[in-house]
Amino acid sequence: MTATQILVLAFAGVALVAIASIFAIAYRREDGAPRPRVGQLDRKARRRDRLAGRAREPEPQALPEAPLEEEAAPADPLEAREVVDAETMGVTRRQFFNRGVLGVFGLFLAQFGIASLAFMWPKLRAGGFGSKVIAGDVEDLASQVFLPDGRVSPLFIPAAQSYLVPFQGNIAGSSFDGLPVVAGGLMALWQRCVHLGCRVPQCQSSQGFECPCHGSKYNYHGEYEDGPAPRNLDRFAVTIDDDGQFVIDTGTVIQTPRAAVKTTEYPQGPSCI
Ligand code: FES
Repeated sequence: MTATQILVLAFAGVALVAIASIFAIAYRREDGAPRPRVGQLDRKARRRDRLAGRAREPEPQALPEAPLEEEAAPADPLEAREVVDAETMGVTRRQFFNRGVLGVFGLFLAQFGIASLAFMWPKLRAGGFGSKVIAGDVEDLASQVFLPDGRVSPLFIPAAQSYLVPFQGNIAGSSFDGLPVVAGGLMALWQRCVHLGCRVPQCQSSQGFECPCHGSKYNYHGEYEDGPAPRNLDRFAVTIDDDGQFVIDTGTVIQTPRAAVKTTEYPQGPSCI
């Protein structure tokens, strides 16, 4: 699994935790015993109301000569309010706001989840890039990359983003020595330039690969020849299965250093760039 995919999974995890938290906060109020809807005022508002009530109390008068009857205490306005049930009250402004925020977050997270799934889909689907790709019968493939005049014509396999090239030289002593990069006389070179990632086209006249972005050049075995590329073209591990099918494991990228000993000649004709 690549670092990008790990990052996407981490984002997806954080997003799930966030939406779970939002749901928990939004529905926490519904827990426990039902509360009367008149109790929506906070403590500050209650205190303000009480102070206002006291301010409206009449100024003390001079004591009458005759004893007066005790005045009844003013009724608490909060106590005098009519209790309205939730159904009668309908949706409050705060509830409407909470639900609106929740809806927007839910929409965003749904889009993020769909985008993440689309990004991961080739990995999840057997045979897509990032997993093992069956390129075809190895003998058929080999017959397509060798030209009658002895030159080679790399065969592009779109599902593996790879060029199949022949490897007839001696792997011992080369930069590929001991690596699982050759099977049935074929190698699978990743199309991506190792400098800054441009797609590298094949150049038939020079019998190599020449990057149009900054001029890196590789021979048809993908060995570094010229330009700013730091190493050979990357390649994938390859095998032949029991049915004679050439399998490219695009989940196993193999990097090799600039070759000290080249395994093929370059250029064999005019360059393309
Ligand atoms: S990306 Fe190929 S040479 Fe720079």
